[in-house]
Amino acid sequence: MHRDWYKDAVFYEVFVRAFADGDGDGIGDLIGLTARLDYLQDLGVTAVWLLPIMPSPLRDDGYDVSDYFGVHPDYGTLDDFRTLVAEAHHRGLRVVAELIPNHTSDQHPWFQASRDPTHPQHDKYRDWYIWSDTDARYADARIIFLDYEPSNWTHDPVRGAYYWHRFFHHQPDLNYDNPEVQQAMLRVVQFWIDQGVDGVRVDATPYLYEREGTNCENLPETHAYFKRLRASVDAYAPGTMLLSEANQWPEDVLPYFGDGDEFHMNFHFPLMPRIYMALAKGNRAPIEGVLARTPDLPAGCQWGTFLRNHDELTLEMVTSEERQFMWECYAPEPRMRLNLGIRRRLAPLLDNDLRRIQVANSILLTLIGSPFLYYGDEIGMGDNIHLEDRDGVRTPMQWDDGPNAGFSSAPAEALYEPVIDDPVYGYRRVNVQAQRTGPGSLLNWTRQVLRLRRRHPAFGRGDLHLLSPDNRAVLAYLRRHPRETLLVINNLSSEAQEIDLDLQAYGPGRMRDLFSDEILTGEPSTTHHFEVAGYAYRWFELLQSDLLKR
Ligand code: GLC
Repeated sequence: MHRDWYKDAVFYEVFVRAFADGDGDGIGDLIGLTARLDYLQDLGVTAVWLLPIMPSPLRDDGYDVSDYFGVHPDYGTLDDFRTLVAEAHHRGLRVVAELIPNHTSDQHPWFQASRDPTHPQHDKYRDWYIWSDTDARYADARIIFLDYEPSNWTHDPVRGAYYWHRFFHHQPDLNYDNPEVQQAMLRVVQFWIDQGVDGVRVDATPYLYEREGTNCENLPETHAYFKRLRASVDAYAPGTMLLSEANQWPEDVLPYFGDGDEFHMNFHFPLMPRIYMALAKGNRAPIEGVLARTPDLPAGCQWGTFLRNHDELTLEMVTSEERQFMWECYAPEPRMRLNLGIRRRLAPLLDNDLRRIQVANSILLTLIGSPFLYYGDEIGMGDNIHLEDRDGVRTPMQWDDGPNAGFSSAPAEALYEPVIDDPVYGYRRVNVQAQRTGPGSLLNWTRQVLRLRRRHPAFGRGDLHLLSPDNRAVLAYLRRHPRETLLVINNLSSEAQEIDLDLQAYGPGRMRDLFSDEILTGEPSTTHHFEVAGYAYRWFELLQSDLLKR
């Protein structure tokens, strides 16, 4: 087994509630997901990341944990989870679970004991959360859920004090100055490793510690704790991948990799909105700009890239002008906006234009790092902006055109959320079954590109070398790896574009189109001329001369 398997991985993010209902109660579950693993294997992804499945009052879809050592009864049992892991492994799929270390639900027994001086275990848990007599401390910390929370402090009448929370008021932050809390979370990770997981996505990493006079993000104490977590995981189960969700600028994310001794992976948040900006402007400048700010990573580390996920398309890591531009362009209706972001799915964001969806995915799959696909985006599912919060991008997976889109056998009224049923994105038109048989479908295209990607280690492991053709509507780059050099050309505009590339330094001039297998022969000592249709992408392998090969 490769210790750095995550470098070649394509991850698929699953909201278990939304994916497949195995027991007919209207809610997706682990049995349902297990039964659909063949689909994921056939799609060509190599790892599955599950949103939280632990017991929870589900006021933040499980990011409000009330028991770290179990499975929510809606989703099944620990046995079901272990079966899922075994079946995934049997198909060569890895499983990544969630760790939510920053906060618990206010229903968690730890918080119940902490808040209540009459609770028999109050003495033990009193300092497990961050309590204060005033709500004036840590005033420099921003509010993240701006649309819902007026403050990071909420008054608790039971304890007669304020408690600290970076997210919803029902998600009190744990107190990491308390050694027992530190220890407890290490134990939680070991528990999930014992259930067989190959990796852990660690939620909301920047916010573990608070210090007066700082913005309470990315503090040295936070990094010290995560290094300890890494050491503990490395000792307990070497090869377990740790992925951090630090929604920060690249220079602030770099410390999350440490010297290769903190996280293996972190999402590249600032890149994501710039892919949309570049497409909206038909100009590569936003992507070039963020890549210029993106540092090289220590050995063994990898970026996680994505176009969409279960949250709003976050616009925290952009300037206010860029945010305004993104809102006007991609969220013209107020209901499409949430906090500092946009609560829409990939296909509606890109006007359901197959060419734009494909070129966005071409960038995602070839530029840097390991890509994450969000469930349903591979068939171009839509969203429902009339649902609250982020629910509109978490609707049931659309498997076929039968009742409930094939998601569940329950009566439609019993579904945890309605299936999308509009004329454009509704399940009667957009579903797995229909796209399986359609040769030009997004699903079959995705299967094809994932297969191509898997054959070329340079996509996951190669250096990135940006090319600078005069025509700025084109984003072109090389991915260089000892085994191969790949050339990718993406047209960010709706119009056909032409570019000249001087590739003499990289080989004798012959290249193979990865899609058609056609060999292009360039004149040595001249430039290559390419014509690229609107929103088209080309992937090539630069062929070394036979002499070099021998
Ligand atoms: C992360 C999750 C988000 C959740 C928040 C609070 O940002 O992605 O869904 O609401 O943490 O746990």
